[in-house]
Amino acid sequence: MIDRYAVIGNPVAHSKSPEIHAAFAHALGEDIEYGRLVATPADFRPSADRFRQEGGKGLNITVPCKEEAFRYAAVLSDRARGAEAVNTLRFDAGQVFGDNTDGVGLIRDITRNLDVGLAGKRVLLLGAGGAARGVLGPLLAERPASLAIANRTQAKAQALASQFGGGASAIALAALEGCSFDVVINATSASLADLLPPIPRGIFASHGLAYDMVYGRGDTPFLARARAEGVGRVADGSGMLIEQAAESYFVWRGVRPPVEAGFSALHQR
Ligand code: ATR
Repeated sequence: MIDRYAVIGNPVAHSKSPEIHAAFAHALGEDIEYGRLVATPADFRPSADRFRQEGGKGLNITVPCKEEAFRYAAVLSDRARGAEAVNTLRFDAGQVFGDNTDGVGLIRDITRNLDVGLAGKRVLLLGAGGAARGVLGPLLAERPASLAIANRTQAKAQALASQFGGGASAIALAALEGCSFDVVINATSASLADLLPPIPRGIFASHGLAYDMVYGRGDTPFLARARAEGVGRVADGSGMLIEQAAESYFVWRGVRPPVEAGFSALHQR
């Protein structure tokens, strides 16, 4: 029987994960089936149960089910515990293992694909929701010189910073005036609504990187602003998408797929 996997969440119709995983399997000469399951947090548990009972081997979890998947897993990786969210479930015999590959996906895309080191850099993380929480631990592990978190609702940035034990500090968006950063990561969902987070001008260093975790929307207002201000480099989240998928594939099957196969699958669409 072919090993079965799926992406679960809502919406999933336009998810690129099936194509990416099919490309990984093809490149490795493996045979897998990878589908899509629509679920809300309310029906996540029965949907995941059914998939498992039918012999499913693992799931990728997307918005808005990552917190529910976190509660669903019986055993959690450290990175899932830090993120308080699960984007990868592996169904072992009699046990559900939950992991989170988003953070490592972002780090690998920045440090390997874009070749931008984070150690010793001044990093600004915009947002304090699930997406920001998911990458904070792995960002801190890179040992930046500083990691500032700024969010529209500042109390959430403060809560997130204090939860991660002082490695990161919260800063008010207005207080960013006059500061500049080597790496600015947009982990807000503003780009999904074609909006710019309320950032002052001048925060992008001319040699720096502006990274939007959203993918497939071209130049988001955030990337357009950074480009207009002369930032050294801009990137959307497509590399993160592929890297987190590659790590999920590894978690499920113990083999590292070539990420190039994922990039060509994504760009063929
Ligand atoms: P996600 O899982 O994508 O992080 P979330 O948990 O709902 O989703 O968090 C969304 C994040 O984007 C929050 O940090 C939110 O700011 P608030 O905490 O103030 O709500 C941020 N966000 C969403 N729309 C935004 C906008 N137009 N400008 C700035 N920040 C925005």
